[in-house]
Amino acid sequence: MPRVIVYYAHPGHRHSQSNAAMWKRAGQVEGITLVDLYAEYPRFHINIAKEQDRLLSHDVYVFQFPLFWYSTPSLLKEWQDLVLEHGFAYGKDGTALAGKAMQVAVTAAGPEDAYAPTGYNRYPLRDFLRPLEQTARLCCITFLTPYALHGSLKAHNKAHIEHHIAQYSNLLEGLRDGRVPLKEAAPGTLLAPDTLAGMQGV
Ligand SMILES: Cc1cc2nc3c(=O)[nH]c(=O)nc-3n(C[C@H](O)[C@H](O)[C@H](O)COP(=O)(O)O)c2cc1C
Repeated sequence: MPRVIVYYAHPGHRHSQSNAAMWKRAGQVEGITLVDLYAEYPRFHINIAKEQDRLLSHDVYVFQFPLFWYSTPSLLKEWQDLVLEHGFAYGKDGTALAGKAMQVAVTAAGPEDAYAPTGYNRYPLRDFLRPLEQTARLCCITFLTPYALHGSLKAHNKAHIEHHIAQYSNLLEGLRDGRVPLKEAAPGTLLAPDTLAGMQGV
């Protein structure tokens, strides 16, 4: 069975609604590893050897974070910069992570129609995940279809957010139990709770 590790990156965890709830629910999923990056490295002093060991001893890397300026929060970027070293994750002889899988779980305040050519964000949310997708590719890691929540701050979406959180734990369990196929995401696709609910066995 795939060994799953969830990396959570949220500098404002205490004020978070959607991610804090997702993180709490992830904590109820047995048999997976949880890493709260901001709790573990509040001063950004990342233990590279420890992180590389974590990557080697797991098969599926879940990155859970709120979208900040169309990117990851800065500690998750720092983690990538330091941990995915040349000769380890990429480059000559850098094949340690080949065959692993990356699952992004992102929340964004912008609603779906804002992430469109006519919306104020101009591009689909999926486009802003391309740096992660390409990072995975360079490291020979399979980039799974990202799980995304649009409109994360909208109170009137409460039922929608609840559904999203419930399906997040289903996704984690599905990854843990080998029920979610570890196959490369199709271009431009995002995973929504309803798609997940419709996936066989998840
Ligand atoms: C510094 C900062 C930058 C942000 N940048 C974006 C952004 O580029 N696009 C977007 O849709 N939301 C953006 N947001 C909103 C967050 O994505 C939103 O607060 C988060 O998804 C809510 O999740 P939470 O309840 O777990 O905090 C930003 C928020 C902050 C604080």
